Amino acid sequence: MVRHIPVLAEEIFEQLVIKKVDNFENYYHLDCNFGDGGHVEYFIDNLIKLERYKNIFIYALDLDEEAIARGKDFLKKYTDNKKVSIHIIQGNFANITDLIPNIKFNSVLFDLGLSTYQLSGAGRGFSFKFDEKLDMRFSTLPATEGELTAYDIINFWSIDNICLILRQYADEKSAWRIANKIAEVREIKKIETSGELADIIEHQVFKGKKGKIHPATKTFQAIRIAVNAELQVLDHGLHGALEVLVKGGRIAVISYHSLEDSIVKYYFKKLETEGIGSRLNKKIIIPSDIEIKNNPKSRSAKLRIFKKEKNEK
Ligand SMILES: C[S@@+](CC[C@H](N)C(=O)[O-])C[C@H]1O[C@@H](n2cnc3c(N)ncnc32)[C@H](O)[C@@H]1O
Repeated sequence: MVRHIPVLAEEIFEQLVIKKVDNFENYYHLDCNFGDGGHVEYFIDNLIKLERYKNIFIYALDLDEEAIARGKDFLKKYTDNKKVSIHIIQGNFANITDLIPNIKFNSVLFDLGLSTYQLSGAGRGFSFKFDEKLDMRFSTLPATEGELTAYDIINFWSIDNICLILRQYADEKSAWRIANKIAEVREIKKIETSGELADIIEHQVFKGKKGKIHPATKTFQAIRIAVNAELQVLDHGLHGALEVLVKGGRIAVISYHSLEDSIVKYYFKKLETEGIGSRLNKKIIIPSDIEIKNNPKSRSAKLRIFKKEKNEK
């Protein structure tokens, strides 16, 4: 399976490391979305080249155990490097301070959403292109009691609630029609797979009409956001990142849709107003035309960076 290409890696490294003048002996970096380890690899390679720090400590989080196993494999080449120490932890970045309680970081990176691997048939129903069990949790562990899956939303939520998330999380104009059709179909037989759901939306709601994007795109996005409570989790993650950052340290966030970007934008603005630090870019940084050409998946990326200047109250 192809490896995920890290987005805006050069720009992030430039803003987080190159432009930051400090006299720390060691560099501590936290990657909150390890994925295929592409950003981590870029950071390690370039920190080594920079020769500014004696030791490099990388911590990374991901909810997806399979992603962690894959990513670790890509980083095997550093095993014998005495300057580099890598710690990959399975967990939710909403809980940074519990997962890594005693370390202060020079930089924290969030690269939100899904990796290429998860979108290309990781078996959890993330994509309408594959016929997989409707799950959509980032974690690969069996769902614990009460843990929400896409199957629960599609088969048990009320029409009103399905409609609400389609509107709120994906601005789906046909939310009402989609929610009603889902309710009608599940009366006869439960909707088990991503393929079945995509087919209902494509053929029963939109009757095969073609647009710029697949007609199920927004529905899949909204359900995934709801299953993983992505907006709430981001809010917690940003607070945790600020807490574990050294004075002068920086947080970078790459988001891929406007609701996430608004959360990041207003949080950084609020911190700036409170005098805790400053936004390094008031205008979002986006991938260059060349990056988009080489990696079309990067096209919706938006990067914001914040520098912490004083410890919060
Ligand atoms: C866009 S990918 C990251 C790709 C990575 N930067 C790279 O270069 O390979 C996002 C990753 O974040 C993980 N993820 C999403 N939400 C998470 C959360 N709340 N806590 C921890 N990991 C999360 C996903 O499982 C996925 O592997």
